[in-house]
Amino acid sequence: MPTTANRPRPTRIDELPPFPEGWYLIATREAIEKKKLIEKTWMGDEIVAWCDETGQICVAEAFCPHLGSHLGPSVGGRVRDGCLVCPFHGFTFDTTGQCVSTPNAPAPKAARLKLYPTREILGMVFAWWGVGGRPPQWDLPDEPAAGAKWSRVHHTTLRFRGHPQETTENSVDVEHLEYTHGYHDVEPTAELSVDGAYLRSCFDFKSAQRVAGLFDIVADVSAIVHVHGLGYSLVEFHEKKIGMRSRLWVLSTPVDDTFVELTLATQVREIRKPGQFITGLGFLPVSLRHRLMARLVLSEERRYVKQDVVIWDRKRYQSPPRLSRTDGPIGKYRLYCRQFYPELRAQAGSARRIG
Ligand code: FES
Ligand SMILES: [Fe+2]
Repeated sequence: MPTTANRPRPTRIDELPPFPEGWYLIATREAIEKKKLIEKTWMGDEIVAWCDETGQICVAEAFCPHLGSHLGPSVGGRVRDGCLVCPFHGFTFDTTGQCVSTPNAPAPKAARLKLYPTREILGMVFAWWGVGGRPPQWDLPDEPAAGAKWSRVHHTTLRFRGHPQETTENSVDVEHLEYTHGYHDVEPTAELSVDGAYLRSCFDFKSAQRVAGLFDIVADVSAIVHVHGLGYSLVEFHEKKIGMRSRLWVLSTPVDDTFVELTLATQVREIRKPGQFITGLGFLPVSLRHRLMARLVLSEERRYVKQDVVIWDRKRYQSPPRLSRTDGPIGKYRLYCRQFYPELRAQAGSARRIG
């Protein structure tokens, strides 16, 4: 009888390639600027990211085209005058990836870093990962309007065994909202819609919550989920009783072929009727109220997502799924996902299946 320690690993990954094409979070601009140079394993690749004096962020493969040194700070890579300096022989690269100088000879023109195309949304830096190094096949949406009525974006990250198709599937799996999270009156409010790499899912729900262990509320919420590939989902919430709008980004990023890092990022908008939520909240300065509410929303979302993590961490990819009539558009979602595995389209007719 297998015990927890020796239980065989679920075979999910045998059927689902670990890296669907798309845009995936690298880090926040704030983190890159603070650390000067970051290194990480991202989509199974070793990468570095830094920022020059003009604010240009560069995300590059972490290996030097000279003789292959790792360029990360843990090996001795550093940023000088906005350029990345290799720890092995001192070749220096600007944010276009070009080698611009070496200590003792003219910079070889062919010495270029491999770069990843980047996009930034409200201080969150994303890079494109294409199968076989393909260029971006679609773009992320425009940055949503923010401004003074919105709080700044707060973040938290969880790491577990998982896959971005499986984490994103939960946004169309309305049944789990009741069963796993205890929401009630969950009702889709529009058909799931798909337009290329964009998918939208809309539903209403109610949830009784004890917020931060302090007070009970019954939230009456409308949610619109905007999915732009499997690494970028934005959920717009509208809590109707107190008139609170909030945004939750769910950013699932494969580390390697086993682990994902799921970053939750949230911001809240000015509340129309704060006194109905907590007496006294309406008297707080807006900036303090924003910060308080954003932290509350984020800690609640983290608590909910941890309920999912227990499942994700141990589940396998079930294909085909044996669905019931109330399961919602999981089949349609899986068809949508196929576009992110061009390598499987190229192998049409093989025994591997998605869906
Ligand atoms: S390996 Fe980077 S400078 Fe030689
Ligand atoms: Fe969930």
